[in-house]
Parts: sequence; structure tokens; C-alpha cells
Amino acid sequence: MPDPRLSTGARTDDDAQFEVGLRPRTLDEYIGQDRVRENLVVSITAARQRHEALDHVLLYGPPGLGKTTLAYVIGNELGVPVRSTSGPVLEKPGDLAAMLTTLKEREVLFIDEIHRMPATIEEILYPAMEDYELDIVIGQGPSARSVKVPVQKFTLIGATTRAGLLTSPLRGRFGIVHRLDFYRESDLEEIVRRSARILGVTISGEAAAELARRSRGTPRIVNRLLRRVRDYAQVRANGDITLEVAHAGLELLEVDEHGFDEVDRKLLRTIIDKFGGGPVGINSIAAAISEEKDAIEDIYEPYLIQVGFLDRTPRGRVASRLAYEYFGLPAPGRDSRLW
Ligand code: ADE
Repeated sequence: MPDPRLSTGARTDDDAQFEVGLRPRTLDEYIGQDRVRENLVVSITAARQRHEALDHVLLYGPPGLGKTTLAYVIGNELGVPVRSTSGPVLEKPGDLAAMLTTLKEREVLFIDEIHRMPATIEEILYPAMEDYELDIVIGQGPSARSVKVPVQKFTLIGATTRAGLLTSPLRGRFGIVHRLDFYRESDLEEIVRRSARILGVTISGEAAAELARRSRGTPRIVNRLLRRVRDYAQVRANGDITLEVAHAGLELLEVDEHGFDEVDRKLLRTIIDKFGGGPVGINSIAAAISEEKDAIEDIYEPYLIQVGFLDRTPRGRVASRLAYEYFGLPAPGRDSRLW
């Protein structure tokens, strides 16, 4: 049974350790996401020229595409430290207030998974983002009063896998909003060659292209596959990653030519076998394959939709002709734009 986490974008502890060393530090080093990068160059240059804090930035998109990396790149380009936290870690309003009041002018506060921040904490953020002040309630009951505490002009960078889950008052307070898309194969190839260089491992152009092709448009996955194939090259070959070594390593890992894993296959197969190809609701799919609905929506679906194996319709999810072909099944005739 292959490691099911091999081909998902979700971050593991292993990745976190490994990614720190490979992370690009500047926008020049950052590969791909050209439109986002160009926009950020303009916003950052303008803010620096005016000696002002950069407007608040919201980055959204599937996991593993570099939202955290980009937050640190932005901090570095602004020449300021980045203080980092995440939505689920913030439990009490005081947790966030403590961070906000210790930020210095133009510094960056990065909140990962900002959609998972409790509502009581979100309310603290509104005046902080808009007027650079906190409304702190002192005491309880009739004697409670609210005092305003100033905070320095800072930049909030929020990251989320799904912008749709943010409340509109929060979303509306970000001046700069960028969606990260799946990467082109040529960009992933460049990323994996850069990572190999940093790790001191030799990889052929063909092998880099092969890893890129099987990485679901996701840098985190291409770097993970590199790590595993590097092990294979070391143990079963002379340490160099040739196309042959890459193929053999990937076969052992059971990563198929699309980068699909067990869950992807189960998801598609279930829609086809149990639900006649769809349309079927997400809750029914989640129950049938014993996976969390959120994980399906955040991790698995976006890529299957991107490569045209799955379609999301108002009546539910539908397996496409490509999905049938993938399993060697005859596609039923249907009246749909997918067929
Ligand atoms: N490593 C992970 N993501 C990257 C990116 N976008 N550019 C360069 N190196 C990376």
C-alpha cells in the first residue's frame, strides 16, 4: 500500500523541515505564478518607495502551491520580519491581541488557514486591519468598557485553501487578493532541478520532466517525489537520478502517470460504480469512501477538476469520459458538455 500522503498537497512534518531549506527567498528566485509575482513586484516596490506598510494580502488556492513560501518572500522583499500563526492555533482574542501589539511598523503578520479563525478573534482583526487599533473590552457586565489601543501600521498576510469560506467583512479588508493556480509542468521541472541542485543530487532533464508530470501541478509534491526518488537512486543505483531510476522509483511508490493516488482512484471509481457516474453530492461521496468532506474539497477535487476527470455541476459531481477511459471502462452515452 503506497503512502496515501505521497500525492496530496497537504503538508507533513517531513515536508516542513525539508521545505525551509528549499524555499526561495526573493521574488526573483520564485518560479511560476507569473501574474501574481508581477503584481506583487509592483505593490511591494510602490510600498517601499512610499515608506509605507504594504496593503493587507490574501493568498488563496489549493495546498502545496507556495502560499507560506510567498508570505516569507514578501516579508523578505519588504525587508521586515514575518510573525507567523494560524487560524486554529488562535484560541482567545488575547492571543491575537498580544501578537498585534508587539508588531513594529511595516512588519508582517502571517495567518495561515485564516478561514479557521474563531469569529471572536476575527472581530478583533477588523479595526486592527482598517484603523490600526484594537478595541479591547475591560471588565464584565455593566461596568465593562472598551478602550482603544493603537497598533503599528502592519501588513496582514492571510492564507486559505478556500476564499469562499471567509466572511465577506474579512475578505473585504484585504487590499491585495491573489489566487495561486496549479503550476505548469515546465515550472515544476525548473523547481525540481533547483531543489536537486540545492540538495547536491544529479538529475537528468528527462527525469526532472517525469517527476514534474506526476506532481499534480504542486511544488510540494514534486519536491516530495524528488526526496523519495533520491533515496531510491542512492540505494538501488549510483545516486544519480536518471529517467530509468525515476521510473523505477515512482513505480515502487505506486504514483501513476497522472500523479493519482489511492484516494483519487477510489473517489472516481466510487462515482462511476456506485453512483452511475454522477451527478452525486459531496456528502454521499465522502460517506462512501470514508474521507473527510473538507479533504475531498480542498485536496482531491481541485486537481481532478483541473485535469478534466471530474466536473462539479449544480446537481453534484460527475465523472468525465477521461475518468472512464482511465479505468479502461466504456463511457456511457450522455447528453453533457463533457461527453
Ligand atoms: N519551491 C517550492 N515552490 C517554489 C517556487 N514557486 N519557486 C521556487 N522554488 C520553489
